[in-house]
Order: sequence, then structure tokens, then C-alpha cells
Amino acid sequence: MASHRVGFTYLSQENLLEAGCFDLRMAIEVAEKTMIDFEEHRILFPEKIVQIFDPVTQNRINCLPATLLDEKICGAKWVSVFPRNPKLHDVQNLSAIFVLSEIEKGFPVAVMEGTLASNIRVAAIGGIAAKHLSRKNSQSIGFIGAGEQAKMHLLAMKVVRPSLKECRVAAKTVEEEQQFIDELSPLLSDMTFIGAKTVARNAMEGADILVTATSAQAPLLKAEWMKPGAFYSHIGGWEDEYAVAQQCDKIVCDDWDTVTHRTQTLSRMYKEGLLSHGDIHADLHELVSGHKPGRESDDERTYFNAVGLAYVDIAIALAMFKRAESANIGLELDLQETMVFEHKDIISRIRM
Ligand SMILES: NC(=O)c1ccc[n+]([C@@H]2O[C@H](COP(=O)([O-])OP(=O)(O)OC[C@H]3O[C@@H](n4cnc5c(N)ncnc54)[C@H](O)[C@@H]3O)[C@@H](O)[C@H]2O)c1
Repeated sequence: MASHRVGFTYLSQENLLEAGCFDLRMAIEVAEKTMIDFEEHRILFPEKIVQIFDPVTQNRINCLPATLLDEKICGAKWVSVFPRNPKLHDVQNLSAIFVLSEIEKGFPVAVMEGTLASNIRVAAIGGIAAKHLSRKNSQSIGFIGAGEQAKMHLLAMKVVRPSLKECRVAAKTVEEEQQFIDELSPLLSDMTFIGAKTVARNAMEGADILVTATSAQAPLLKAEWMKPGAFYSHIGGWEDEYAVAQQCDKIVCDDWDTVTHRTQTLSRMYKEGLLSHGDIHADLHELVSGHKPGRESDDERTYFNAVGLAYVDIAIALAMFKRAESANIGLELDLQETMVFEHKDIISRIRM
């Protein structure tokens, strides 16, 4: 008789780190391949399920499924976003867990910590956009926001643009700017770091690459700070004045259709009739596949906005799981030892 044991691998964040999964280069490669698979219809990507508990705080838990048909893996990200966590509780605003199942018998293969993969995905996508839309010899990068997304983004940007030499950072407090610098400067020892003393202009004006990754809802980035040839990656909600997008030569999204349903700057502009489909140059996968061009001249200003593609999260989580598995890292857990009525003592366990 076949074994009816069902088991899966459990991976904590510490397991993933030990297995070498904090790897931006791996994430970028996986994300690029997965975007091509998406374009070629080898991904199932249903609507996400959103549960917002409070319209004011926007505290929410979402469920985002996707299936990688080539890999025969179906996964879901269960992700909580509680924007006030850092301020109220001094803890991260985002936490996530992944479930990956194979699609031959439909059994789970892994349950994993997902915050790492989720944050790495955001940065990997920004890095891919920078690869196609920033100047190859970009030297300086400016940030408004010094949180988790900003930190990850800097690492991804440095992978695709190793020429980066200077990083300027503005946050709400000088302490946060300093923490960003203290955490990242040992990793990027060939870069100079400058805290902007909370003045956004000091961080952004004249930078080759501009990144906003804030919890703010305000037009923080001014169009006049973005020089010709600069690339802007917009990560948060409403973070830039409309004139930023209006002056850009190319606007690219991870998924423009999804952007139209959200609330960040481009979404607002679309809803106010200030931006239409024709103003969008491409979705990112079209640059990756080469169906549309990325940057075409040194003077172009380029704008990228991502809202998040869960199939990329699932693909990165799968790559992490495989890496951990090959390093023999993780905890093997039973979901069941056998089918329920096969347990020897089942009669004594049933209550009616
Ligand atoms: N696009 C995506 O795919 C994606 C994915 C995950 C998170 N996000 C968004 O990215 C944003 C940042 O996330 P995080 O986890 O890094 O948040 P975080 O709370 O760790 O950091 C937020 C940063 O914004 C700064 N900030 C807030 N208001 C500011 C202001 N007025 N001026 C200057 N700085 C200001 C804070 O000082 C802090 O450094 C959030 O809006 C989040 O929802 C986007």
C-alpha cells in the first residue's frame, strides 16, 4: 500500500539566510525568467484577495496566489501590511508567509517565512527596471525613505549598476538616515553615504537614480530635482508631484492595468484624467523580453512604478526553497502520517 504520509519543509528566515537565499542577483535572474514565462502564458495569475480591516490605517492581510506551470508549483503568499507598526510598536509593517504545493498530487512541499522573499522581490523588480531604464554609468543614487524597501533597493541597484559611487538618503528623522547608513555602508564599502538631514532635496537633486520608498501620502519628490537622463523608481503610495511623471519621456510599470486600480501617484493621475493608456511606454516584461525598448538616449528621463506581481514572489520563494533543499537546510514536518481513518486508534479519537 502506498504511504499516505504528507510532509513539507518548513523554512524560517534564519534557515533561508543560512542557505544563502538573501541573494539579490539570484532574485533578479529568477524575476526576469518568470516575467518571460508570464508573457508566454506559462503562469496562472488569478486576482488577489484583499481584506482591509480599517480604511484609515489601511491595516490589511492579503492572499496572493500564482502557479508556475513549467515548475509544476502552485503557491500563495499570505501577507500582512500594517503601516503604523514601525511608529506604534517599533516593528516592521510587512510580514508574510508562503505555501508552495506541487501540482501532480496537489500536496504542499514548503511553508516558508515570506518577508525576506517579498522584500527582495520588490527590490529585484526595481533593479530590473534600472537595468533597462537608467544610464549604464549611473554614479549617484538618492532616496526619500530609509526603511526596509529602501535598503533592499539600494542592494539591487548596486547589482545592476555597480558604477554607483554615492548614495544620499532622506527620511523623516536623522536617526533613521543614520541607521540606513550604518547598516548598508559596511556592505557597500566603495560607496560614499550622505544623510540629507531630512531635507528631501538634498538627497534627490541631480541624482542619476532617484528612489522614493516612503509611508507618506504627499508629493515629496519635485520635478525640478530630476535632471535629464535620470531614472526614477517609485515604490510607495503618493510620493511625487504630478509634474515628475509629466516631464518623463518614458513611463513603465510592472503592470499598468493593476496600477489603474490602485492609489499611488500614477493611479491618481489616471483617475483624474491626467494620464491615459497611451502615456505608458510599456509593462516591464516587455522590456525584459525585448519587445519594447528601454532607455534609448542619455537625456531621457524615465519613470518606473511597481505595484507588485505575486507570481514573481512565488518564483523567488521557490528558488529559495530549492537552494535551502540542496543545502539540506530546513525542518521536515508531517502534515499527516496517514489518512485519517487509517490511524489505529481512530475510533477512540472521534467525538460526535
Ligand atoms: N511597490 C511595491 O511592490 C511595494 C511592496 C512593498 C511595500 N511597498 C511600499 O513601500 C513603502 C515603504 O515600505 P517600507 O517597508 O520601506 O516602510 P518603512 O516604514 O520601513 O519605511 C518608510 C520610510 O518612509 C519615510 N518617510 C515617511 N514619511 C516621510 C516624509 N514625509 N519624508 C521623508 N521620509 C518619509 C520614513 O522615515 C521611513 O524611512 C510603503 O508605502 C509600502 O507600502 C511597495
